[in-house]
Amino acid sequence: MEEKLSSFAKSSTPSPIQQLSHLAQRCNAINLAEGFPDFPAPSHIKNAAVSAINSDFNQYRHVQEICDYVAKNMKDMHGLDIDPVTDIVITCGQTEAFAAAMFALIDRGDEVIVLDPSYETYESCIRMAGGVPVFVPLDPPYWTLDPEKLMKACTSKTKAIVLNSPHNPTGKVFGVDKRDIIAEACQKWDCLAVTDEVYEYITYDNERHISLASLPGMQERTIITSSLSKTYCVTGWRIGWAIAPACIADAIRNIHIRLTDSAPAPFQEAALVALQSPPQYYESLREDFESRRDFIAELLSGIGFRTEFKPQGSFFMFAELPRDYSNCDIDFVEELIKQAGVVAVPGCGFFHTKRPPDGYQRRYIRFAFCKSSQTLIAALRRISALLNSSGHLKLFHSDNDPDSLTVL
Ligand SMILES: Cc1ncc(COP(=O)(O)O)c(C=O)c1O
Repeated sequence: MEEKLSSFAKSSTPSPIQQLSHLAQRCNAINLAEGFPDFPAPSHIKNAAVSAINSDFNQYRHVQEICDYVAKNMKDMHGLDIDPVTDIVITCGQTEAFAAAMFALIDRGDEVIVLDPSYETYESCIRMAGGVPVFVPLDPPYWTLDPEKLMKACTSKTKAIVLNSPHNPTGKVFGVDKRDIIAEACQKWDCLAVTDEVYEYITYDNERHISLASLPGMQERTIITSSLSKTYCVTGWRIGWAIAPACIADAIRNIHIRLTDSAPAPFQEAALVALQSPPQYYESLREDFESRRDFIAELLSGIGFRTEFKPQGSFFMFAELPRDYSNCDIDFVEELIKQAGVVAVPGCGFFHTKRPPDGYQRRYIRFAFCKSSQTLIAALRRISALLNSSGHLKLFHSDNDPDSLTVL
């Protein structure tokens, strides 16, 4: 029967992050692999969802007021004038918004620029739509975008450039200068930008998220995608949106209707409440994640990981392995699962450009720190039990007693 599958399906492999998550569940391991919080969502939002279900919001539904609040928030945050009726489409998470945007834009053979490393979904969506992803490597350890590399990758076939900031997996927030470079490339090659802004409210220190669309001349060539998932700790609710010039938004809407018809009705009602959260909500979200970031950075560096680039946003720590284990991200993660009962993601899963066995692409592990402090402490205790006092991994010995360790 396999021969009946499409060539795309034949070439596609299961998502490594989801596989690791399933493994974590099976082994009862602590999951620092997947980017979802393990603590409760805010009560005011949950109560709104419960009340929507009790009020029988059970059918296909399009809640237009969500678009009004999304437009208002974009005006307040970025000064953008967005028509909530024509320019916004509510989707099932950012994931559907991005996929629908790719189907709306790509003709077979069109190229789409993606920064490397990147969130794993982009490549599949581009390929599903018949496009060709072209990867531009970011330079470690600060994950710098080199303008020359970007310009070299653009051609007359470039349909769009994808920008995810704050960035998964590195936590990089691309500053105004890098946005200028992307805007310049879009204008020079007359292509579009597709942004993924799901971590828009999760930035640290003095960094603030600036939407690429707010740069001069960019609103008319940018498709913004985002969602409730990360900002309100509700990744399972599947509410997101695409914002685009009206004719592109129309195409995305038509595709969205064919794909899923509408986003979950009760959670659209709850989205209205979420999107009206007061400024203090976002401030404490930032502070809370920032303290988790500092906590995990300190503990990881204490057990030999190199963490000189601290995430400026998002909730991932892309930590460089202790020196002696530089090129064995996969082995390290396997040992973590088997011996410590902790799951993280080997960095190589996010890289697409050439991956020589001794290249930097094998030196990183991504830890999601959007977890309760109990989870983080327990995970770090277990990890440190694998390392002896000189920072050496005790590979292939399972006689450690994690509970006897005092890390903190
Ligand atoms: C960069 C990025 N974009 C999008 C998503 C998924 O967003 P959503 O839940 O809205 O589909 C994730 C989830 O990890 C992510 O890290």
